[in-house]
Amino acid sequence: MQARRPKITVVGAGNVGASVAQYAVERELGDVVLIDVIEGVPQGKALDLAQAGPIHRYDSTLIGSNRYDESANSDIVIITAGMARKPGMTRDDLLFKNAEIVGSVVDEVVRRSRNAILILVTNPLDAMVQLAWRKSGFPPQRVLGMAGILDSARFRTFIAHELEVSVENVTAFVLGGHGDTMVPLPRYSTVAGIPITDLLPPDRIEALVKRTRDGGAEIVSLLKTGSAYYAPAASTVEMVEAIVKDKKKILPCAAYLDGQYGVRGLYVGVPVKLGRAGVEQVIEIRLTPEEQAAFQKSAAAVRELVDKLKL
Ligand code: NAI
Ligand code: 2OP
Repeated sequence: MQARRPKITVVGAGNVGASVAQYAVERELGDVVLIDVIEGVPQGKALDLAQAGPIHRYDSTLIGSNRYDESANSDIVIITAGMARKPGMTRDDLLFKNAEIVGSVVDEVVRRSRNAILILVTNPLDAMVQLAWRKSGFPPQRVLGMAGILDSARFRTFIAHELEVSVENVTAFVLGGHGDTMVPLPRYSTVAGIPITDLLPPDRIEALVKRTRDGGAEIVSLLKTGSAYYAPAASTVEMVEAIVKDKKKILPCAAYLDGQYGVRGLYVGVPVKLGRAGVEQVIEIRLTPEEQAAFQKSAAAVRELVDKLKL
């Protein structure tokens, strides 16, 4: 019998969703179903991407649809459906509108894919993951959110530019919620293994940390009609790859905390081990009292938002 490829459903065929589909098939991570409410858009983007296959040399199947039946028995469902930020809007402004959209999407997908892993992208990210977890009834290991990889990639880019080194030499960790209280960790951010605290003066590090925190808003103010999507899609596909290839990769993701880092019953960004089962372990790294206080402040901001949803 022929082994089937992993089935990856992407809900929301807008900027992030279409780029996720593109990067996923370019890496041949599986077959992709693209779903959106707008008639013709997922179908058109799926067909267009399929026609890039002969050139980019991928055989992944792409299906676009306005219905959920095509998503049945997905291994991974990525939810990007919802509104994106416009200039002047915070991620939190999106809360109630996107909660309605994500809630209805979760109902549709879990009914047809009982064993899937759900990756949330829609903002405000941490609150949307919490909502999706509650709505799905899935174990927390199979519901997680993308943000920390993106925030860390932004920090890595700024560090590499500052020191004029390859981005490949730079690792970085950004924890906490995906918002203004996110917690970049310079002590755990390195260039070829050397902590940046040994390479840069405190004021330069602080400037890079600030730019990272404002990284999403910087792109919104440039694009004017929407928010970032190439790096967010690349970050999402890194999670998909870790799962379908069972890589056991340590990546910062929004994961359910059950006492780790002193937080219970809440989704917040922390390093996790990602593999075929989803979140296989929450990694607890040692934080200084200042870092721990910043993390607690960020978790409190997430909890405040989640409380508004009255889940
Ligand atoms: P977009 O506007 O380009 O695409 C959103 C798509 O969702 C649209 O095509 C829309 O028709 C669709 N949609 C709306 N309601 C739907 C429903 N009920 N069912 C299916 N599809 C529906 O926006 P973009 O740039 O793709 O961003 C998507 C979301 O991801 C936004 O909420 C944005 O803030 C968030 N985001 C989160 C990031 C993160 O780090 N977690 C990074 C970048 C974006
Ligand atoms: C970003 O960080 C808007 O959350 C999105 O680019």
